[in-house]
Amino acid sequence: MSESSLRNTDIDAALNEAKEAYVTSAPRSLARYVEATTVMPGGNTRTVLHYAPFPLAMARAEGCRMWDVDGREFIDFLGEYTAGLYGHSHPVIRAALDRALDNGISFGASNMTEARFARAVCERFGLERVRFTNSGTEANLLAISLGRIFTRRKKVLVFNGGYHGAVFGFAGGGSPINVPLDYVLAPYNDIERTQALIAANADELALVILEPMIGSGGCIAASADFLGMLRRETARVGALLVLDEVMTSRLAPGGLQSVAGVKPDLTTFGKYIGGGMSFGAFGGRADIMDLFDPRRADALPHAGTFNNNVLTMTAGLTGLTEVYTPEAAVALNARGEKLRERLNALCRTADAPVQFTGIGSMLAVHTMRGPVTSPEVAAKADPKLKELFFFDMLAHGIWLARRGMMTVSLPIGDAECDALVAAVEEFLSARRSLLR
Ligand SMILES: Cc1ncc(COP(=O)(O)O)c(C=O)c1O
Repeated sequence: MSESSLRNTDIDAALNEAKEAYVTSAPRSLARYVEATTVMPGGNTRTVLHYAPFPLAMARAEGCRMWDVDGREFIDFLGEYTAGLYGHSHPVIRAALDRALDNGISFGASNMTEARFARAVCERFGLERVRFTNSGTEANLLAISLGRIFTRRKKVLVFNGGYHGAVFGFAGGGSPINVPLDYVLAPYNDIERTQALIAANADELALVILEPMIGSGGCIAASADFLGMLRRETARVGALLVLDEVMTSRLAPGGLQSVAGVKPDLTTFGKYIGGGMSFGAFGGRADIMDLFDPRRADALPHAGTFNNNVLTMTAGLTGLTEVYTPEAAVALNARGEKLRERLNALCRTADAPVQFTGIGSMLAVHTMRGPVTSPEVAAKADPKLKELFFFDMLAHGIWLARRGMMTVSLPIGDAECDALVAAVEEFLSARRSLLR
């Protein structure tokens, strides 16, 4: 046998052993899963939460800690895929929600909180107008429809590996369940090829949509030159630039766009901005957004039963103005930056094919060497090593995404960062022979 096939056999053996220990440690999660498969396809109602052999079920959470149904404690480094920035049951948000509940949950009428929240979002992220939705998916679909109507054009340029919601995702090129929009697929961070695609579709292109850092696709940041080219070229051909900041708006006080130095025509939001409640929003230029102004004879409709629901408006406003202040955003992202540097220093010292990408409070592990500049490059990582990393982290009480994404939420402090660093150090040392 060659050295590499021997190594593969060793990784398989290590993985099997890790999974057996996992199964033994989680009998209640297993029972819940088996029962759930009888009423939900695969026992699941949110695909990203499924992993083999079966996902853990959590029973309780507080601050940055969670306890599974078998009673084991985890440090929550997933942070609900960025939506859990405030941690679990933040006392200030909790108190605001309690007060709001005393006055009724849903009015079917305008309320006193929605415009205050809208003002806070507009001021924070430099928008002239904003509209609320119930999810990031909805925000993106509405922004895209709006952009197509505004430009009177049909085509949308998207990027391989980008994700804009349940029915508009491009991991591995696209998904059969995507809405049937006329889209052009471009390679992320590839200036020349993307510029050529924009030129080739110049007359029909309504908009370009992208995450300024690809989030769920592996925390891969767009280069400043790439973003600059997109801003220039969209303006040149009369298309809109839409930034999906559903995840990345947490990375700087004014969103990632404020430090990346590019001003989009529209931005979409979601996740943590709802203070832990269901949330989405889109906004930007008044001349585009005001197509929704219901006082106009030709106004576009924008419906959504829960768009202004009292709980989201209250939790969101409280979170953004009282908890995740601009100063808190700077501090949290500095903590994340320091953590990533510590983790990468360990990987370098161990000379292991492991690295952590990302910006500020969002990070992702890649089991490979060399710069990770695009989803195509990231796809070359060793999937089995990444799976082993995941199960080893769980065994150390670290909760993270199966795909290797992690976030630093507000309640995570030095002790929790130290615990993650120690778990990764242990992984690098215990698995040294597999990481050659
Ligand atoms: C960049 C990005 N856009 C849109 C979405 C969709 O948001 P939601 O899950 O709230 O529909 C997500 C969710 O992960 C996302 O990461």
